[in-house]
Amino acid sequence: MPAFMEPFRIKAVEPIPFPDEQQRRDTLIAAGYNLFRVPASQITIDLLTDSGTSAMSAAQWSALMTGDESYAGARSFEQFEAVMQELTGYPEIIPAHQGRAAERILLGSVLGPGDVSLANTHFDTTRASVESIGATAVDLPVTADPDTPFGGDIDLAALKEFLDAPHGTNVRCVVMTVTNNATGGQPVSLTNLTAVRRLCDEHGIRFLLDASRFAENAYLLTQRDPECQALTPRQAAQTIFSLADGCWASLKKDGVANIGGVIALHDAEIARRCRDRLIETEGFPTYGGLAGRDLAALAQGLTEVTDPQYLRYREQTARWFGDQLEDAGFPVVRPTGCHAVYIDAARLLPHLCPQRLPATALANQLYLAGAVRVSELGTLVFGIPGSNGEPDRPAPRELVRLALPRRVYTKSHLEYVTDVAARIAESPDEVPGYRITEQASTLRHFTAVLEPI
Ligand code: F0G
Repeated sequence: MPAFMEPFRIKAVEPIPFPDEQQRRDTLIAAGYNLFRVPASQITIDLLTDSGTSAMSAAQWSALMTGDESYAGARSFEQFEAVMQELTGYPEIIPAHQGRAAERILLGSVLGPGDVSLANTHFDTTRASVESIGATAVDLPVTADPDTPFGGDIDLAALKEFLDAPHGTNVRCVVMTVTNNATGGQPVSLTNLTAVRRLCDEHGIRFLLDASRFAENAYLLTQRDPECQALTPRQAAQTIFSLADGCWASLKKDGVANIGGVIALHDAEIARRCRDRLIETEGFPTYGGLAGRDLAALAQGLTEVTDPQYLRYREQTARWFGDQLEDAGFPVVRPTGCHAVYIDAARLLPHLCPQRLPATALANQLYLAGAVRVSELGTLVFGIPGSNGEPDRPAPRELVRLALPRRVYTKSHLEYVTDVAARIAESPDEVPGYRITEQASTLRHFTAVLEPI
């Protein structure tokens, strides 16, 4: 493992809280054993998400001051539009306040009731958008193989079979989420994207990207795909965009800013439909629910994010952190990507069946042991709630995600997390399971109340 260090120095700092053991226990009980309900004032290291949690650069903070707050036709929109057009090659650029607004507007413009959207994996909010339209979201991820460099790919044989079947005529779009957050943050290969393009052309179907982590996918292509070795990360990103008909993205990730989303398209008619919907819910199409200064910070962030030094640091941090956690006794999903390290909670806690929520159990234990907050991507998020007292249908995997906010935590913060993990790994059989006592009918993990069992 080559040595690495943060390719920046720190200009502004924020103190972090250190709740003691009793405070952590009381906090978790008061939060109904749901980490989304824990106040940030009770968290030492927050690895819940890499979304909207980035530290902006000095150049972004200075861009905020130049933001143009005009309601229509703001200069900051023009800057944002130009950067997005250069990056994606798509002429139609529509800002939105965050990813789920962008996906709801775009999917609402291409899908109707009874239609089908196929994907390498729809993220949870994407699935919710598809289902709210009365359409069906079908995930076709490749079977998890720990040695594959491109675990984010779609299963091409399954995709072809679906499209060739009689119900294939209901498919309106294929969505490729780059990188594939729900299945371990793995990248999608260029070969896979090219094959999806061909199949979409053969069947006359739209090919869309969920490009929320486009820069990290692009960087991993330059590292893992011999055909992309000669490309810069920005060129690799441009190649990815060139294969699809359009995209949406949560810019709270690779926009390296605290808020933002975007729709970018070739098709002027779909863009017109999106703008009409956007005006109803987000605002005028040159600000899309954002302040002018947010657009200015995003224009700068979208320029910085493909810096090879920065992306190398992201990839090396995840790899190093994965190695440390594995040495501490945690089963790490391999290979690591960029935005997070994923732990296989089912392997660490074999005494807990999926209905006892092993991923939630591990996440809560990390909080109790050291005020570390992570997210569960297991049966609480992806399981299908059982009706009439039936048990939940388990998620395909019981993963815990330790997300890495961009440019926020240093190596020593992550060493602290490794120490906490090592203490849990000493006696995993003592970690209790959980059951849900209250849940919403959709996206239940955000608000559910649980209890140990
Ligand atoms: N698509 C992907 C792949 C995502 O990871 C997310 C959000 C969204 C869409 C929705 O974007 O939050 O801006 O509305 N992921 C966050 C996460 C919440 O923690 O992974 P949003």
